[in-house]
Amino acid sequence: MLIHSASQLLTLTPGPQRGRDLGMLNIIEDGALLLEGETIAAVGPTPDLLAAHPSEPRLDASGCAVLPGFVDPHTHLVWAGDRAAEFERKMAGAKYLDILAAGGGIISTVRKTRAASLEQLLDETRPRLKHMFTHGTTTAEAKTGYGLDTQTEIKLLQALLALDAEGPLELAPTFLGAHAVAPEYRDDPQGYTDLVCSEMLPAVRDWWDERHGQSSTGHRPFVDVFCENKAFDLAQSRQILSRAKELGFPLKIHADEFDNLGGASLAVDLGAVSADHLVKTSEADIAALGKSDTVAVSLPCTPFGLAESEYTPAQKILDAGGILALATDCNPGTAWCESMQFVIALACRALKLTPAQAIAAATINSAHAIRRADRVGSLHPGKQADLLILSVPDYRMLGYRFGANLVRQVVKRGRVYEIA
Ligand code: NIG
Ligand code: FE
Repeated sequence: MLIHSASQLLTLTPGPQRGRDLGMLNIIEDGALLLEGETIAAVGPTPDLLAAHPSEPRLDASGCAVLPGFVDPHTHLVWAGDRAAEFERKMAGAKYLDILAAGGGIISTVRKTRAASLEQLLDETRPRLKHMFTHGTTTAEAKTGYGLDTQTEIKLLQALLALDAEGPLELAPTFLGAHAVAPEYRDDPQGYTDLVCSEMLPAVRDWWDERHGQSSTGHRPFVDVFCENKAFDLAQSRQILSRAKELGFPLKIHADEFDNLGGASLAVDLGAVSADHLVKTSEADIAALGKSDTVAVSLPCTPFGLAESEYTPAQKILDAGGILALATDCNPGTAWCESMQFVIALACRALKLTPAQAIAAATINSAHAIRRADRVGSLHPGKQADLLILSVPDYRMLGYRFGANLVRQVVKRGRVYEIA
């Protein structure tokens, strides 16, 4: 199939786009793409591709900007229930970490998730996946973390694998058994940390390897930790991530969402794939990120969702040479948002990114944040045909406009899905 006459075809670069290089869109005006099955076969000016492939079935993208599908590298997709009542209390002044410490917050979602069957979890999650996909996300990372016992955490991994297999949105799973201290260990966080290391991580590895065989080592799920006061301190985070590394898992971390504990430098130290949130990040941590290959994932929906005024110091991260990516953090507590278009609009205002920088952070750099940049995140021959045909001709409409869906068609693995 030949997609032709795009007003702007944003091919980007293979990346990662580091520091001030962020925002290279490599635009072809009047651009075209040749797809062969699930793969991009050629990219170039429309007249050239039409001449070279005159009898190919065509899709006219006149008046449309075309860009890679969004990659959302940080979500907590699988949970049961909602926390609307808690939202109301927070807007009246209650604090997120105080609610958690009192046995609400994440723990209230854990209670509902433990009680839910696998089928119920799939049914509750599918509409979220649909919102994500129709708003242009073609690949997403998704975390466990609402089980906090081995059995339920594995049920959540099972749900993620089942949803990935259903498609069309592709999921990269993450084990987040250290999302909060399990209620059974409320007064013994160290006991729960030890349990994660001695029981949960080995069980997850064995369960995963049984399903995927030895060849899957490179594709094991990520292991993530919520490094934060009232969750896991720096030493506990180090213990969990070091054990995970020993077992062959790639690493991620939730760092500096509310307090600066040094999680970003820990991530760099352990060679983590990404460090996420990064709101209260210190100068030393920013410098460490800037020199590393650990992707800095900013989640502007989270301060927005909590009505807080402080966001990721994105400009400092770029000045330091860091690799900046964007994600939704979609979760029931701080940021129930499925739309990377909204993330881009927020990042332009709160992180002072240009639309071009925000788009690169939401495609190629976010693909690097989940180690999938070999297949997705930019439009180059040989890569997967995952792309968006917008209903607007100028990419800057992303960021400028917000609250409406600008995606006309999503192409996932070469298949066209009509959106609007
Ligand atoms: O990234 N901070 C930890 N995890 C989520 C919130 C999860 C929840 O409240 O359910 C976050 O903000
Ligand atoms: Fe998160």
